[in-house]
Amino acid sequence: MSKWNPQEWLEASSLEYYLGTEEVTKPAGLKLLEQSGIISIQPKLSSHSGLIPSSSSTPSVTSDKGHDGEIIKVFDEGAGLGQVTSQLIEHLLKISNKPLDRYQILLGDHDDSLLSELEKRQQTFEGWSNVTEIEKLDGVALHKPDNTFDYLFGNFLYFLLSDPIKGLEESIRVLKPNGVLGFSTWAYSGPFHLLQHAIALLPNYPFNPNPPPPGGNWMHPQWLKQTLESKGMKDIKIEPYEFTQTAESAAEMSRKMHHVVKIVTSKWGSEQRELGWKVFEKIEDLLIREQGKGPVKITSVALIVTARKP
Ligand SMILES: C[S@@+](CC[C@H](N)C(=O)[O-])C[C@H]1O[C@@H](n2cnc3c(N)ncnc32)[C@H](O)[C@@H]1O
Repeated sequence: MSKWNPQEWLEASSLEYYLGTEEVTKPAGLKLLEQSGIISIQPKLSSHSGLIPSSSSTPSVTSDKGHDGEIIKVFDEGAGLGQVTSQLIEHLLKISNKPLDRYQILLGDHDDSLLSELEKRQQTFEGWSNVTEIEKLDGVALHKPDNTFDYLFGNFLYFLLSDPIKGLEESIRVLKPNGVLGFSTWAYSGPFHLLQHAIALLPNYPFNPNPPPPGGNWMHPQWLKQTLESKGMKDIKIEPYEFTQTAESAAEMSRKMHHVVKIVTSKWGSEQRELGWKVFEKIEDLLIREQGKGPVKITSVALIVTARKP
């Protein structure tokens, strides 16, 4: 990793720090696809209710979308490296043997380095070339007409936006009536807690009265439910999903935390470069102290949220 050193870590592009971290968000992305009903991995368990019971059953879109040869329009918003799309296409191709030409998938992101990687993937990944479109867009002001998509996924997206509620409203606006919104947030971020531990061990660091995300309301199921209800959404289902990320060594895990360290130290001004690097060193020390010099793991809990636009 070319820019993984004390002098340059802040200059790395989103692509440079996201490459190699795809496995972190993929499991939640797959859960999101499953809970939305666009794919079905296991037979539905009728006794398995959500953390917050919904007024009716889990949104199940496979049964009422795409009939009569209609195209199913999907929006992977804040697509990153296409973690949601790649799993959707793989599932449609290999598991459910669904005809891909019934789907149209838009991958949108605001980051140029990620968009150019997505364009490469569009040419090389199986199944992508015919069904995907890639666009630069801003989640708080989508240049898309109302009522466009059957499904919209935002895997670990909204809490990162400059105005998360505006972003949520925009997503709901572009969904068709009866369309399904699926997004994930952190209920407990293992990397974030490790990072707090590492920062607390620094003798001094800048005071920040308004810490950046992840955190706050978006971590709480009741707030999420109330917010979605206030926007008129139905069939709200919010499930905690625990998962573990692994790395071959403490050093590798510390590198995988590039993005979260960058966000959390973003208001440290000129001290971010040097102190931020010390944070990576502390993270590595802590992991070695607690888990040894071999492979390490961090456990997190995501909230998998789905809801239907009436
Ligand atoms: C934590 S990553 C998640 C990526 C991907 N959805 C996944 O499943 O891993 C958040 C993504 O949202 C994108 N993003 C952040 N702010 C955005 C905005 N205002 N508009 C569009 N995308 C945005 C980032 O560039 C990044 O790709």
